[in-house]
Amino acid sequence: MLELIQETAAYLKGRMHTQPETAIILGTGLGSLATEITEKYEIKYEEIPNFPVSTVEGHSGKLIFGKLGNKDIMAMQGRFHYYEGYSMKEVTFPVRVMRELGIKTLFVSNASGGTNPDFEIGDLMIITDGPRFPDMSEAYDKELIRKANAIAAEKGIKVQHGVYIGTQGPTFETPSEYKLFHILGADAVGMSTVPEVIVANHCGIKVFGISVITDLGVEGKIVEVTHEEVQKAADAAQPKMTEIMRELINRA
Ligand code: HPA
Repeated sequence: MLELIQETAAYLKGRMHTQPETAIILGTGLGSLATEITEKYEIKYEEIPNFPVSTVEGHSGKLIFGKLGNKDIMAMQGRFHYYEGYSMKEVTFPVRVMRELGIKTLFVSNASGGTNPDFEIGDLMIITDGPRFPDMSEAYDKELIRKANAIAAEKGIKVQHGVYIGTQGPTFETPSEYKLFHILGADAVGMSTVPEVIVANHCGIKVFGISVITDLGVEGKIVEVTHEEVQKAADAAQPKMTEIMRELINRA
C-alpha cells in the first residue's frame, strides 16, 4: 500500500509545478468553485498510476491544480463512492496521496438529507462531528469551523451545524431509517465523506466539511426523493457554499 502511495505521489510530483498545502474534494455544491481556479493545470485520473479507474466511460475525473485567490490548491473533480463498487481503500487512496504530497488541510462538501426537524431544504450545514476512529476527538477542525462561522455571519449566510452520518448507499433512507439516524444523534445523512475524513484524520490532515441539505428525512415532511431533486437543491445552494469555501480557503 505504502509503495503504491509513494509511486503515485512521485508521479504527481514530477508533473506538479506548485506545492499546495490545501486540497478540496469538489463534492456536490462545489462544482462551480472549479471555474474560479486560476493558473490552472490538470491531470486526468486515468493518467495517474494506481489511481482508481472510473467504471463510467468518460467520467473519470481529474486533479486540478492552481490558485484559488492567493492560495495554491489541489482539487479533486470527481470522487469515488463505495456504492459505485470501489473498495474503501480505493475511495480513500487519493487522501493518502494528498498527505504524501504535503497537503495539510482538506475541504470537503456533500449533499445530505436532513434528519434534524429545524433544518430546511437548501440549508448549509457545517459538519461538526461524525466518525470516531482512529483519533476522532476533533474530526472536523474547530478553528476552521470558527472561521467559517465568522465568514457566514459577515456575509449574512445562514448556516446550521450538525453531525453527518455516512451510509454505504446507494439508497436514500426509509422513514424509519431517518428516524433511527436522528435518534442516534445525526442531523443529516449522506453517502460520502466519512471514509475520506477518517483517513485524513488518520494521516494528520485537518478537515473542514460542509453539507447542503437537499431533502428532509423528518417525520411529516418525508416525500419521495429523486437524484434530480437532490441535484436541483444542491445547485440552488451552490453560490452560498462556494462563497464560504472560497473565503475560508483564503483565510485558512
Ligand atoms: N440520504 C442519503 N444520502 C443523501 C440524501 C439522503 O436523504 N440526500 C442527499 N444525499
